Amino acid sequence: MEKVCAVILAAGKSTRMISAKSKVMHSLAGRPLISYPIDVAKKACGKKVVVVRSPQQEDLKQYLLENKIEDAVQKDQLGTGDAIRAAEKNLKGFDGYVIVLCGDLPLLQAHIISSFVNAVQTKSAPVGVLTMVPEDAASYGRIVRDLDGRVLSIVEAKDASPEHLKIKEVNTGILCFKSDWLFKSLKKLKNDNAKGEYYITDLVGMALMERLPVVAYKGEPAGDFIGINTRVDLAEAASMMQARINKAHMLAGVGILDHNNTHVDADVSIGVDTEIMPYSFISGKTRIGKNCKIENGVVITDSVIGDNVHIKAHSVIEKSVILESAIVGPFARIRPESKIGKNARIGNFVELKKCEMKDGAKANHLTYLGDAVIGARSNIGCGTITCNYDGFAKYKTIVGEEVFVGSDTQFVAPVKIGRGAVIGAGSTITKDVPANALALTRCEQKTVKDWALKRNNKKKK
Ligand code: UD1
Ligand code: MG
Repeated sequence: MEKVCAVILAAGKSTRMISAKSKVMHSLAGRPLISYPIDVAKKACGKKVVVVRSPQQEDLKQYLLENKIEDAVQKDQLGTGDAIRAAEKNLKGFDGYVIVLCGDLPLLQAHIISSFVNAVQTKSAPVGVLTMVPEDAASYGRIVRDLDGRVLSIVEAKDASPEHLKIKEVNTGILCFKSDWLFKSLKKLKNDNAKGEYYITDLVGMALMERLPVVAYKGEPAGDFIGINTRVDLAEAASMMQARINKAHMLAGVGILDHNNTHVDADVSIGVDTEIMPYSFISGKTRIGKNCKIENGVVITDSVIGDNVHIKAHSVIEKSVILESAIVGPFARIRPESKIGKNARIGNFVELKKCEMKDGAKANHLTYLGDAVIGARSNIGCGTITCNYDGFAKYKTIVGEEVFVGSDTQFVAPVKIGRGAVIGAGSTITKDVPANALALTRCEQKTVKDWALKRNNKKKK
């Protein structure tokens, strides 16, 4: 087999997307569209992958740089045939097959590309086109065949006659070329068509004129080749991608109760026997352990969840770590850089920010803990607040092990509470408290006997 490399076209103006962002940088299952064909190209073709971008696409340029993907710059967007020319320099000295993918095909699968390239190589054809028969041929290029089924040309929808528009087989946008023939033939492309662009698809007709073999390989299912041109296409692709992701998790032992209404990003990992209830959004690079329960409406972003953790309904967790057997929620908010220890409990309407709850610590109700460390097995009473910000800087609250914090306590940081101390309910703690001490700042209660009775009688008169 000859060497194979991939060129991914992504420099188009994407006018149909109506967006300041590059089309291929729009997100699908937590990753930019372009990442999907890049992955497929790496799997199917090996290391040499070049992405063609325009000089204006700063966002794409940055992404390719960060991910160490080679790029080629197409100065003016003169069509797909012109775009591939931009990669000629990158492929200097390369002799083999060039597979051309579009950056807007996120549902592609590597095994189809491998079979396609194989078919083209077996026939020693200079050109191959991967075709499909979608339900709606929409604006895809039509594959024109003669009566014997041989491919004659690809006709773009805008240039097609009503007769051609009836053709159901279309170009997926994936083509394969012998490198020497490709770059020689690109020079001969013309732009005398409805869009005034150089079409890469015209190379098919050109090969036939030269009496060279053209391989047309039908790819299935057609859904794998959805090209994203509008936000409507993006939404359709998103639901197909979600079905694919959820199915893979279910087949690997994850319980997803309502797979149509559970959002799991492409890079999320989930352990066996974990159950996820509907309307949950698990996104980014989140890792969830085994045997967890994620109740409905939970949002988890870029976090690590240990085994046997229970996240109750409508909790929001961001860039945090939750260790095994902890219980969080319902309605808890765990903000970035928080860490919840083993068997710890965070209850309803509790907000943590940069807070470490050590193993077995509890904050069960209506509490804000920011820039704090709560020692193992300490209990934080309802309505506790760390006053961590003085309008200029943030300060820390450090609570030792097995501390009991009464309800409605404010810790005016910086402040340290020693191991085993007790804080009386309703206290405003401004000074450090030593281990095993009691601290309370309430004024003493005054009780006036029959005061209310006397007042009421007076009012009635
Ligand atoms: C293209 C094909 C069409 C096929 C469809 C599949 C051509 C002429 N048409 O049409 O036959 O059915 O894909 O989805 O090839 N691009 C550049 N530079 C340019 C123009 C485009 O890099 O100057 C890139 C785009 O970013 C995109 C890809 O090429 O990733 C395809 O361009 P697009 O405008 O989406 O072509 P379609 O009209 O979809
Ligand atoms: Mg397209």
